[in-house]
Amino acid sequence: MSSNHGWIKQAIHQIMAEEAHHPETPLIKLPVPGLQNIDIYLKDESCHPTGSLKHRLARSLFLYALTNGLIGPDTPIIESSSGSTAISEAYFARMLGLPFYAVMPRTTARKKIELIEQYGGQAHFVDRAGDIYPAARQLAETLNGHYIDQFTYAERASDWRGSDNVAHAIFDQMAQERFPLPSWLVMSAGTGGTSATLGRHIHYRQYPTQLCVADCENSVFYDAFIHNNAQLTCQQSSRIEGIGRPRVEPSFIPGVIDTMMAVPDAASIATIYWLEKQTGRKAGPSTGTNLYATLKLAQQMQRDGETGSLVTLWCDDGERYLDCYYNPAWVRQHFGDITPYLAQLDSFERNGNFSADQQSKITPQPELQAGA
Ligand SMILES: Cc1ncc(COP(=O)(O)O)c(C=O)c1O
Repeated sequence: MSSNHGWIKQAIHQIMAEEAHHPETPLIKLPVPGLQNIDIYLKDESCHPTGSLKHRLARSLFLYALTNGLIGPDTPIIESSSGSTAISEAYFARMLGLPFYAVMPRTTARKKIELIEQYGGQAHFVDRAGDIYPAARQLAETLNGHYIDQFTYAERASDWRGSDNVAHAIFDQMAQERFPLPSWLVMSAGTGGTSATLGRHIHYRQYPTQLCVADCENSVFYDAFIHNNAQLTCQQSSRIEGIGRPRVEPSFIPGVIDTMMAVPDAASIATIYWLEKQTGRKAGPSTGTNLYATLKLAQQMQRDGETGSLVTLWCDDGERYLDCYYNPAWVRQHFGDITPYLAQLDSFERNGNFSADQQSKITPQPELQAGA
């Protein structure tokens, strides 16, 4: 028995109580007049207390570390992150009275850094996305702390069989809808942990739903999937915060994925503007990636004469990105002209069809599908 047994018990109790105090996040139906008998939903994970889907993951990672006796009352907590996970982990670390250090790319949105600091965390910066892993490991060694390592542990820390996960919540909320079993769940990948949970849950519960993972530019997930090569790396950093990685993360589980789609970054940004027009609310750019891929699949369903529902995730709140993704000058400088995608989305809204249909490769999983 760990000598910290009493403290661990108390810490787990605090985390469970926090969960009990907060309601399930809402499922939002997105009206699209151009779609006939095809319904689109967003599971709004921005409504968590720390503003993103990473609230669930941070809770799971702390529970994983606590139940494994990896952290005690004096353990500094270290994490590598593009920001959202670190915000949520800083929140839980503060709840448990533990010091927290986030290792992040220097380009991380200013507002995210402020939120980490607001929860008492400290930010350490590296120049390239790929540098966060060794820097976090090194910092943990120096401080004699625990490196949480979401990229490795996200897939195993999150429950996928039971009811304490986002997949169960989606199917539970969809049960009231006219097409209760979605044709597609759509998610992008940062750690890959959320897509792993969604895909495992679909398989385990034997649902007919398919899983599409959307990837952004400057990321290896899409190519690794279609070429069945987990060793791929890339030098550039993703420009869509939270998703897209320079290496295939250990938590990315290709065997649970039916299809991947490569979404142009400018399309992701256009889609969050379009979503704001529909809902009056701002979302982070990964939500744009998710939703653009979802709309593409809906278009394909309509072309094929299918009816049904599609569900994707609203990953985080766009108010965090006012000085970047919601700053037109910044967007033009980093992504060029997004108006062709805005025109496509308007066309889609009216007639369910992206008139000037561009890029977006959709590829079924050839090698792994047979054995899955
Ligand atoms: C805003 C945002 N969207 C999407 C993701 C991807 O989720 P996952 O890490 O579960 O693949 C992340 C991950 O950090 C994120 O922060």
